[in-house]
Amino acid sequence: MVRFLSAVIPGDGIGKEVVPQAIRVLDLLEELSDDIEFSYRYFPWGSQYYIKHGRMMDENGLRKLEEFDAILLGAVGLPSLVPDHITLRELLIHIRQGFDQYINLRPIVLLDERDCPLKGKKVNDVDMIFVRENSEGEYSGIGGVFREGSSEEIVLQTAVFSRRKTQKVVNYAYQLAQKRKKQLTSVTKSNALNYSMVFWDKIFNECGESFPNIKTDQYHVDAMSMHMLRSPELFDVVVASNLFGDILTDLGSVIQGGIGYAAAANLNPERTYPSMFEPVHGSAPDIEGKGIANPVAMIWTVKLMLDFLGQGELAQLILKSIRQLATEGRKFLTPDCGGEATTQGTTDYLLQVIRKNIKDF
Ligand code: NAD
Ligand code: IPM
Ligand code: MN
Repeated sequence: MVRFLSAVIPGDGIGKEVVPQAIRVLDLLEELSDDIEFSYRYFPWGSQYYIKHGRMMDENGLRKLEEFDAILLGAVGLPSLVPDHITLRELLIHIRQGFDQYINLRPIVLLDERDCPLKGKKVNDVDMIFVRENSEGEYSGIGGVFREGSSEEIVLQTAVFSRRKTQKVVNYAYQLAQKRKKQLTSVTKSNALNYSMVFWDKIFNECGESFPNIKTDQYHVDAMSMHMLRSPELFDVVVASNLFGDILTDLGSVIQGGIGYAAAANLNPERTYPSMFEPVHGSAPDIEGKGIANPVAMIWTVKLMLDFLGQGELAQLILKSIRQLATEGRKFLTPDCGGEATTQGTTDYLLQVIRKNIKDF
C-alpha cells in the first residue's frame, strides 16, 4: 500500500469550486485500486483568511507544509478586497520560492480539433510543454521606490538570474527534450534585455554542449507569440523565464481549448521540499459562485501530481478519461468549452469514464 498525504489549499474564488472536484477524482482512484491511499489536510489560507488575520497564511506556514508529499492549490486572489500583489506574493509566490519550486511545468495539449481556435490545426499540431523558470527572474521581488510622490520618482523592479538556477532550469528542459522529440525551444528577448537574456542565451548554449543530439531553436518572446499562433506544430519542449513563461502559457491555453484546460506543476525536482500543483488559471471572480468553472484544469493538474509521485499509470488513466470527455462527451463540458454542464456535472461524467477505463489499466 502506498500512502500520500497532501496539503490542500482551496484558496479563493473558483479555487474553492474546482479543488473538491479534483479530490473526487482522487477518492475514486483510491476506491478502485487496492494499493493506494490518499489523505488530505485542509488549510483555509487565502484572501478571506487575510481579511480576518492580516496574513495570507500562518506565520510558520511553510514549516507546516514541509511534511506533506504534495500541495494542491486551487487559486488565489480577491482583487476587489485585497491587492493582488499582497495575496499572490504572500501565499502562492511565497510557497514557490520558499520551497525552491524552480520548475513550473505546463503542458499545452489539444485533445480535440473542435477546441482549437486556429484554422486547420489538427490534434497532433498542438502538443508542447513549457518549462517555466519559477523561483527568480522577473519575480524576484527586489526593487524599490525612490523619491516617492515627487516629480523625480523612480521605481525599480529587478530581475535576478543566477547561474545556478538558470543552469538547473535549462538542463531540466534539455533532459525533458531528450525523453520527448529531442527538440527544445528557448524564449528570450536578448535583443533588448542586454544583461538577463544575453546571459540566458549563453547558459542555454553552454548547457546544450552536453546534449548534442537535441535540436534547438531560439526565439524572442514577441516573435514566439506570433509563431505559437501561426505554427504551434513547430514546438515541443519550450523553456522560458518566469514572466515570459507566464504570459505564453495563457496564450498557449487558448490554442488547446481554453484556460479551463490548462494544468501546471510547481516542482522541486530534488524533492527537498514538497512540490505544489495548481492550475494555470486564477480565481476567476467573474464566474465565482455560478457553478460553471471548468474543473478539467484542476483535474489535469492532479494528473501531473500523480506523475511526479511515481503513479504514471493512474496519471495516464486520468488523461485518457479527460480526452474522452473532450471527444465523446462534449455536452458534459462546461460552457467555456462549448458544453452545457456544471462544474459538478463535468466531474460526474469524468468519474463514470474513469470507472469504465480502469479495467484496461
Ligand atoms: P483568471 O484566470 O482568474 O480568469 C481569466 C478569465 O478566464 C476569466 O474570464 C475567467 O472567468 C476565465 N476562467 C479562468 N479559469 C476558468 C475555469 N476554470 N473555467 C472557466 N473559465 C475560467 O485570471 P484573472 O482574471 O487575471 O485573475 C483573477 C484573480 O486570480 C486575480 O486575483 C489574479 O491575481 C489571480 N490569479 C491567481 C492565480 C493562481 O492562484 N495560480 C493565477 C492567475 C491569476
Ligand atoms: C500563474 C499566475 C501567477 C504568476 C500570478 C497570479 C502571480 O499568473 O500562476 O500563472 O504570474 O505566476
Ligand atoms: Mn499566469
